[in-house]
Amino acid sequence: MPQVTLKMTGVNKSFGGVRVLKDVDFEVYKGEVHGLVGENGAGKSVLMKTLMGVHRPDSGKYVVAGKEVSFHSPSEAQRQHVSMVYQEFGLVQYLSVAENIFMGRLPSRRGMIRRGEAYEKSTKLLEMLGSDVPPRALIADLKVADQQEVEIARALSYDPVVFIMDEPSSALSHDEIRDLFDLIRSLRDKGVAIVYISHKLDEVFEITDRVTVIRDGVIVSTDKTREIDPSTLMERMTGKKISAEIVRAAAVKEVEENILELQNFEAKGFFSDINLTVGKKEIVGIAGLLGAGKTELGKAIFGALPATIPVTGKYIFEGKEVDFQTLTPGKAKKMGIGFVTEDRHSEGMISAQSVSFNITLPALNRVTRRAVVIGRKALELVRGVIKDVVLRPPDPGRLVKLLSGGNQQKVVIGKWLAAQARLLMLDEPTRGVDVGAREEIYDVITQLARGGIGVLLLSSDLREIMRVSDRILVMRRGQITSELLPHETSEGKLLALVLGEEVAKKEKSQ
Ligand SMILES: Nc1ncnc2c1ncn2[C@@H]1O[C@H](COP(=O)(O)OP(=O)(O)O)[C@@H](O)[C@H]1O
Ligand SMILES: [Mg+2]
Repeated sequence: MPQVTLKMTGVNKSFGGVRVLKDVDFEVYKGEVHGLVGENGAGKSVLMKTLMGVHRPDSGKYVVAGKEVSFHSPSEAQRQHVSMVYQEFGLVQYLSVAENIFMGRLPSRRGMIRRGEAYEKSTKLLEMLGSDVPPRALIADLKVADQQEVEIARALSYDPVVFIMDEPSSALSHDEIRDLFDLIRSLRDKGVAIVYISHKLDEVFEITDRVTVIRDGVIVSTDKTREIDPSTLMERMTGKKISAEIVRAAAVKEVEENILELQNFEAKGFFSDINLTVGKKEIVGIAGLLGAGKTELGKAIFGALPATIPVTGKYIFEGKEVDFQTLTPGKAKKMGIGFVTEDRHSEGMISAQSVSFNITLPALNRVTRRAVVIGRKALELVRGVIKDVVLRPPDPGRLVKLLSGGNQQKVVIGKWLAAQARLLMLDEPTRGVDVGAREEIYDVITQLARGGIGVLLLSSDLREIMRVSDRILVMRRGQITSELLPHETSEGKLLALVLGEEVAKKEKSQ
């Protein structure tokens, strides 16, 4: 029998007369990663916060490592080695990384605070995460992903027996998620009981040993992850309403002409046998796991793969065959292709410059005459773009680094609009973007397409794919394995296809 490290029984919690947790029983074994999944508002965060002493439960019994506990505050929980990475950040912006990690317990000797020791310890904790965030840096100067890593390091610093992570990956890049998963595995192997809260089922299938579904404050099921299939899990999360509301309505099929057409497109070792079209006004979503080859495909279309990787096949843009042997990003841009890359920080924008500088950068030929930038023309262009992407605040002079993640992404998209892109490729466009801004970006993408642009969306976020695409192509290990329409599928079915044949087969036989 596995040893139970965390056991909660009969947990109830109401807010203002509304019951959000109903007789919840939940247990986590020593040395397991336990997924806790459920729709938004299902009660995942509140459940864990009743354990942590953030919320006081109306009733409930909590046992940690065989001892009944009742924490009155997160710090009390942490002192007893129960720690949580919260969904919302709790860092103090104008303190350093180390001061945040060791908040209220900076190492000291004879009343003297020993900062050096705090820096050293912080560096060690961050290294466990594969992070090189400097411990002396101010939180306010860090990008969101680094802040998330500091949050994780802080939770880790309490030497947890129970380690809870609430949607930890939404701000992280692929590589950072890889590092996080390595850390989770090593903690698991050391016997830590880990709760991994996520609505991203591909992650849940990759990292968890068991998975519990919660819906409307009620525990629906707990299974071994390898014994449950994604469709069933998804149905349990959503109840009857199989993701109908998050899928766009059937697209009006008015794809008169193709902007992009690829035939037998191949880059050895990355992708092969790619046949696809993107029509004017059409949003084609390519769904695939991390490493499925989506990014490389995008790069090949943009002429951005290293010359050492040979590309073969046929590539037609606006009816004309493209010589992709000599294609460069510069040429692709001139042809009318835009590429919003995964890492907007290093490639997409110059954050120390203004919105207007960034937007006009690729469009200089449109606002200059004899090498003189025409101010009025530029401003007109920028104002138009700001309106198209619904930038908040709509201020051309604002420095990009002062905008929120979502609005920075809008600037990057706006840049390509200014450059008059007619095919816009977006690679994981809402990674690290908060939920509210995500919807706005989806709206912007939809508006752009309806205005006549062809869109190729590369994403591992299946909800995003379902929400935005007119047509979905599934990419697995470098190949397009299926094509479907969002209103004819469900997120669960799509996930099964993205994960691969074995799960898909299991699905069919049911
Ligand atoms: N501090 C609070 N006050 C009142 N209602 C809350 C509070 N926190 C969460 N809720 C409500 O409790 C329910 C569960 O929320 P939560 O646990 O955050 O869901 P999720 O599963 O998305 O983490 C939701 O209906 C939410 O609106
Ligand atoms: Mg939550």
